[in-house]
Amino acid sequence: MTLIAPSILSADFSRLGEEIKRLEAAGADWIHIDVMDGHFVPNLTFGAPVVASLRPYTKLPFDCHLMVANPEARIAEFVKAGADMIVVHAEATCHLHRLLQMIKEQGVKAGVSINPGTPVSAVSEVLDLADLVLVMSVNPGFGGQKFIGRALEKISLLRQMIDESGRAIDLQVDGGVNAETAALVRKAGANVLVAGSAVFGAPDLAAAIAGLRQA
Ligand code: DX5
Ligand code: ZN
Repeated sequence: MTLIAPSILSADFSRLGEEIKRLEAAGADWIHIDVMDGHFVPNLTFGAPVVASLRPYTKLPFDCHLMVANPEARIAEFVKAGADMIVVHAEATCHLHRLLQMIKEQGVKAGVSINPGTPVSAVSEVLDLADLVLVMSVNPGFGGQKFIGRALEKISLLRQMIDESGRAIDLQVDGGVNAETAALVRKAGANVLVAGSAVFGAPDLAAAIAGLRQA
């Protein structure tokens, strides 16, 4: 089954609570929250206080994608804010194993993400800890970018690694996912699709989400 995690990066920031309610009504599975710090990526979005203020608006899982430097220092505040899953970048830490352990010890799911320039081998030693692997199909920082085709090979390789691990690890893809690329990433083996502009740019949120799920 394909899960759709719309990214609120493309939502109207002046009314995020209502936007999350709209996503829930439209059939979203998870809410993807792009946390950017202006250091790890060249853009700045929101932090844990915003996540905490959004928490009462839905019971859907909050999938917090941390595009931040020094993620170790931020985990506790996102757990407290109500994150269900915290996804960190392999490139943002030199102690990935310890960081994933730390996230799991705090009682939430742990994910690891790799940028387009990072090989899949970067996560091979932490598959026993990860609940999710995120393959970035754009360089993180902005919505509305073009899908990088090489991500498909990385998804296939990771699908194989995950199947061999015998663990139920979600394989997520983020960046440039639309009706066309959704079919390709599903075929390559991803089961969780993040989409920002393809959802919020569509006239009908429910139709856009259903279209991605059926791709
Ligand atoms: C990019 C973010 C994505 C972004 C995707 O840095 O991690 O989640 O919102 O946007 P689209 O779907 O428009 O490429
Ligand atoms: Zn994201």
